[in-house]
Amino acid sequence: MIRSITNVGRPYYTNTFRGPTAEFRVRILSLDLEKRITVAIDGPAGAGKSTLARRIAAKLGYLYIDTGAMYRAVALWAERLHVSVSDMHRLEQLAAQAEISFVPGENTVLLNGEDVTHAIRTRAMGQAASQVAAVPGVRRAMVNSQREMGRRSSVVMEGRDIGTVVFPEADIKIFLDADLDERTERRARELDLPAQAVSAEIQERDHRDRTRAEAPLVQAPDALYVDTTGLSIDAVEQELLRLIRERTSNGKERTH
Ligand code: DC
Repeated sequence: MIRSITNVGRPYYTNTFRGPTAEFRVRILSLDLEKRITVAIDGPAGAGKSTLARRIAAKLGYLYIDTGAMYRAVALWAERLHVSVSDMHRLEQLAAQAEISFVPGENTVLLNGEDVTHAIRTRAMGQAASQVAAVPGVRRAMVNSQREMGRRSSVVMEGRDIGTVVFPEADIKIFLDADLDERTERRARELDLPAQAVSAEIQERDHRDRTRAEAPLVQAPDALYVDTTGLSIDAVEQELLRLIRERTSNGKERTH
């Protein structure tokens, strides 16, 4: 079972259908009217998704969900249990059993209660995550969990298939991209390695993520394409916030 720490507990309506009082009914009605906003950000590795999604979520007061971290966590667990990335059946079982959660307001990722924030950030886990993410059963488990998180609160969710598969009805979809050279430079800086050390890996991962049969990385037809090549994070952040606010009543949860 997978859940977000922020979402632990019963949904607000759990009690209410067992003969709600009038007061309860009013409360249910007002909660139902609250619109939860979903911002979907997709794109290839190194396009700036994580940094931007995290900043935007903080500005808007939404929950930030890094779905790549979830695939990385499954890959890490598989590695620890010596489960091969080609053992689809076992991987599917692990994904269904994994308890992956995010600590709101922090970058912390928990796998079965253990802080794996740093352990999942290695090059090896990036590659393994991309392989694990091609397994349909793994994706099913992750997507279910991601949808559950998005149903319960306003989110900025980033990954590869958020606007196409996880939330095709997202309020706003952004496809972030950048030149391969720049993406390679950014990833190399993150990992503190020379660019040539990560270049082949990035290309291999992009190719796998874009060409897999299940939920490949592709721009949703209604997503806004944003090329971040040569732009500062601050400039892109301002532009994205403007776009989001324009489409979501100034970023506030609207009622209708
Ligand atoms: O964003 P990232 O580099 O942490 O993602 C690691 C891998 O996980 C990426 O190569 C592809 C996969 N992934 C995916 O298939 N779908 C997502 N929504 C997010 C990540």
